[in-house]
Parts: sequence; structure tokens; C-alpha cells
Amino acid sequence: MCGIVGYTGNKPALPFLLDGLEKLEYRGYDSAGVAVLGATGPAVVRSVGATKELRERIGHRPLKGTTGLGHTRWATHGIPSERNAHPHSAGPLLIVHNGIVENSRILKEELEAQGETFSSDTDTETIVRLVNRALETGGLSLSDAVRSVLHRLEGSYSFLILHSDPAHPLVAVHRGAPLVIGLCDHGLFVASDVTAFPAEVVSTVFLEPDDLLTADSSGTYEILCLSSGRKREACRIGRSRTEEHGKGDYPHYMVKEICEQPRVLAELLAGKIASGPGGLSVHLPPKVTKVLSGARRLRIVGCGTSYHAGLLGKYRIEGLAGLPVEVEIASEFRYRDPLMDPESDLLVALTQSGETADTLAAVRMAREAGVPTLALVNVPGSTIAREADAVLFLEAGPEFGVAATKTFLSQIALLTLMAIHLAPEERLREKTGHSYQDLLSEFLGLPSLLDKSLSLASSIMGMAGELASAPIVLFLGRGADFPLALEGALKFKEITYIHAEGYPGGELKHGPLALVEKGTPVISLISPDPRLLPKMVSNMQETLARGARLTGISSESAFSEMAPVVSTELSLPDCSAVFFPILSSVPLQLLAYHTACARGQNVDRPRNLAKSVTVE
Ligand code: M6R
Repeated sequence: MCGIVGYTGNKPALPFLLDGLEKLEYRGYDSAGVAVLGATGPAVVRSVGATKELRERIGHRPLKGTTGLGHTRWATHGIPSERNAHPHSAGPLLIVHNGIVENSRILKEELEAQGETFSSDTDTETIVRLVNRALETGGLSLSDAVRSVLHRLEGSYSFLILHSDPAHPLVAVHRGAPLVIGLCDHGLFVASDVTAFPAEVVSTVFLEPDDLLTADSSGTYEILCLSSGRKREACRIGRSRTEEHGKGDYPHYMVKEICEQPRVLAELLAGKIASGPGGLSVHLPPKVTKVLSGARRLRIVGCGTSYHAGLLGKYRIEGLAGLPVEVEIASEFRYRDPLMDPESDLLVALTQSGETADTLAAVRMAREAGVPTLALVNVPGSTIAREADAVLFLEAGPEFGVAATKTFLSQIALLTLMAIHLAPEERLREKTGHSYQDLLSEFLGLPSLLDKSLSLASSIMGMAGELASAPIVLFLGRGADFPLALEGALKFKEITYIHAEGYPGGELKHGPLALVEKGTPVISLISPDPRLLPKMVSNMQETLARGARLTGISSESAFSEMAPVVSTELSLPDCSAVFFPILSSVPLQLLAYHTACARGQNVDRPRNLAKSVTVE
């Protein structure tokens, strides 16, 4: 969490820093700050809130200088306040930091005993104070002073440090949290993510864990691998395209990203389903095919929405392909001492950002155990994308709304495609009633059905006013709709701040039915799967009998076949049951979005959250 950006070159630094911070806000947005090295020393401005508030605080102050750093924060140590906002300083040094120094309390006590007075509650300040003390002993360059204290800092983090005398180079350290260099003809950038770079940055270099960077304003830089003590050859990557960052005509990123889904799915499938003389077939990258073909059991890990996508993957891959799948929340997996078998297991990491700390730890555990790893990732160049043995990209384009939408759709689409790809033809027919060819052909037609699903927006807007005042909302589903119910509830609580629960329909009478009283909103996912549909209808009747305000999400023909049980029908175009969750994810996203709007919430930046969770 937290976004950091630095620039050293021959152009004014401030506009680059502020624009970069705005683009990094997905990583945290509770406070922000910049420091620019001017002729008379550094100018530092910090504020509570995001870059907008920081810009207002800067006002017309010039903050002239061609070297500087900036930070957008997601608080870990110390409340969001100006005092805790970065940059932090000690002596001539200024620092911005991402990640956690786990032993900061001990270090702080030690430093205080030595006479240091802290001016914030952050772990960050311990770093800069330690480096400054090393520098004060004399005879060390800034990078040597940094190196001399790193062994004292426990945890996973990265930071950028500047000396107020611009003659000193900028120093950056990657100790587990991402950092990337951006190169252009007027200088050098360092940031948590390439999105922070302006268009003129033509090539990038990803730092690796244990790298120390020194860079000066001429754009000259050196990367030192701390573990080997040797210089590391930089692997420059051309920047293929600068992704569109704006909201366009949409009021929020989230709704823009929801509406992009038909295009995202069409582009994703166009690259994976090919037509040849033998008909349609699934084409996955060779490394992906290789790790999948060796697997006898998939171990899927992920957090939040990605975990829900993994649960859906289990239903599909076990159901269609007959391959055993275990799914686990990454933060539990990593501390559970899971038994992993290199002969049979494939660890599949699901992550939009490719930076989630717990998911990354699970990938590293698997690699250490000799288990091959496959990552389904959205962000190219992210740590997990680089560390996994094989990668399947979500290809959803950048997702800025904190609530994952289009990337969830890509995840469940890819897992469904993998299941179809792995399934023996006979089993596929038996389980779905369709041939491989028919399913792939129907899959290719789904983007236009998604377009139709989006047209439910006006009915959903009509429901949002009432939902906005509900104290609790229940989401129900059976089979692969159960993970969808979990996801619907997560999306809903995340941005509306209304308590929401997702449950399998069959579990209703084992507890949650006690919550249902007159007017309780219940959102029911009714799969067209003939085994599940009548069971779901019974569950709905159970809630109706207790006065629930029932909304059904199902397909047109399923609604026409069932007796009218729901008060509101959200009717989706007909499709095979195997594809139903792909279509039904859209009304769930719209329900959360429009209810949050009706409550006037900050839809793209819900309180207390951040897009990229790089701390445990
Ligand atoms: O980047 P990841 O997919 O690893 O992120 C995992 C979760 O933090 C994420 O899905 C989170 O739950 C979303 N904000 C949900 O909308």
C-alpha cells in the first residue's frame, strides 16, 4: 500500500510528482505529501486527504526545483494526519516509504534512548533517523549510510531517500515492495508503479527485491544487488503504450470499468479461442499449458475478490475437468503449514495487482517447496507476474476503482476457459449437455450478452434508493453462484458500508434465516442449472414467508418457467448454466455501485481501503 514517486532531472519536478501521485492513489489516499529540492533548501508540503487536497495546500507556492519526491498514504502506523504524512525527515534527509518496518517499535525506543525526538507515529521515521545517524558518523556516502542500516530493518518495504543537497544522488531500496525506474530524455523517475510516469517515459527498469538504486539528475543510475554486493545489469523494458487514465464521460472509474466488460471479455477471448481447420480451440501460452498438463491437483490462493474467483474456479475445474482443486485465502494458506506435493500440485495465484503480500508469500512458499506456480494477474511487470513460473494475464487494462469489477470478470472467464480446455470431451458433454465446439462458440458470443446485462442498470437504479436505507442485505446462491453471492456481498459492503452476507442457499435455515424479517432485502442468484433451480426457488420461498423483499437474478427463460416468487426480476439473456456467473456478476456490481451512489459514498475510494494490499 502507499504510492511513492520521485524525479530527478532538468525539468520542474512538482507537476510530475503531483500527476504521478494522482495516478498512484489506488494504493492509498488518506494523506499525501511532496518535497522539492530548491536553491534555498527543500520545500515540503503535506496534507490529509488525497492529491487534490495536497494541490490545494500547495496553492500558488512555487516549490521550484528539478528533484523531488512524493507520497500518497494508506495508514499503517499512526492515524491519517498531516504529522504522519510523508515525506519524513531527519537532518538533511527526506524519505518516502511503502510497506512496514516490523521492528519499528523496538528501533524507535532505542533511538529515543539515544536522544532522537520523533515527530510522527510512523515506522518510516525510524528508517530516516537511522540513516541520518549513520551519515552523521562521517565518511559515508548516502547510499553507504543506507546500506549500513538495512540489516536493522525487518519487514517488507521499499523507500526513496533524498539528501537536501542535490549534489547527492537519490537512493531507493526495494526490500519486497515494488519499485520501478522510468527513463526519459530529461531525467529519471522512480515509482511504485509505471502508471505514475508521464507519457515521455519511454523505457522502464523493474527493481528486484534487495536492489539498491542510486541515480542523479543526469539520468545516470546504478543498481546494486544487496545480497551479492554486485552491480546488476539493468533489464530495460520499452513502454509499449501509455494506458488511458481518465474517467472519460463516466462519473466514477468503477462504472466505467463495469461498462468496459463486454470489450474486455471480447478481447480476452479473441486471444485465447482460435478458429482452425478442426474448428474452435483454446490456445494458452506454452508455459501455462506445460504447468497445467503436469498438475494432478490445483491449489488456488487469493484474497478478497480474487479468492471468490478461485472458489468459482473450483466448481468449474472440478466439475468439468474432474481435476481436484483446493482453494484457500492466501493469508491462511501461508501460515497453515500446508502440505504441498511437488509431484502433483500446481499453485495457482489469483491476483489483480500481482502485489498482494499474502498471495506473493504463498507463491514463494510453493516455489521453495518445488511446486510449480501459475499466476492469473492483471498488472504486467508486477512482482507475482515476474516470480511465477507461468502467467496468464487478465488483460483487463488498468483498474482504478478500489472495487474489483472487470478483473473479476476476466478471472472467472479465464478459469471457465481453463476448465473447458482441461475437460475430457465426454465429461464436458455429460456435465454441460454441450460439445467443446458449441461451448467455445457460445463463449465467443458472451460479450454481446454482457452488453444486454448492462442494460439492467436503469432497473437497478430504481432499487438503489430503497436498498440504501437497509441495515443488512443477504445474497444467496447455489453451486457456482455461491462464490458469486460472496462476491456480491463483498462488493456491496465494500462501497455502500451496509452490512451484507453471502450464503449458499442450502445454508439459509442453518442460521442466517434468523436475520430475515419484514422488508429485509434478499438478492437471490438463480442458476438455470436444472439441478439447482428448484432448490433455489424453495430457499426463496423460505425468505418470502418471513417477509423478505426478494430480488431474483436469473435468465429470461428460467423466470418464465418458475412461479412468480420474486418482487423484482433482474432478467439476464439466456445462456448455458456454465456461463451464468459471467453474466450475473454484472447486476451484482451495478447493485453495489448504484446503492453506494444513492448513499453519496466515495465509490472509487471506499474508506479504510486501498487497491493494492502490499502489507499483511
Ligand atoms: O490485487 P488482488 O486481486 O490480489 O487483490 C485482492 C483483494 O485485495 C481485492 O480483490 C479486494 O478484495 C477488492 N477491493 C475487492 O473489490
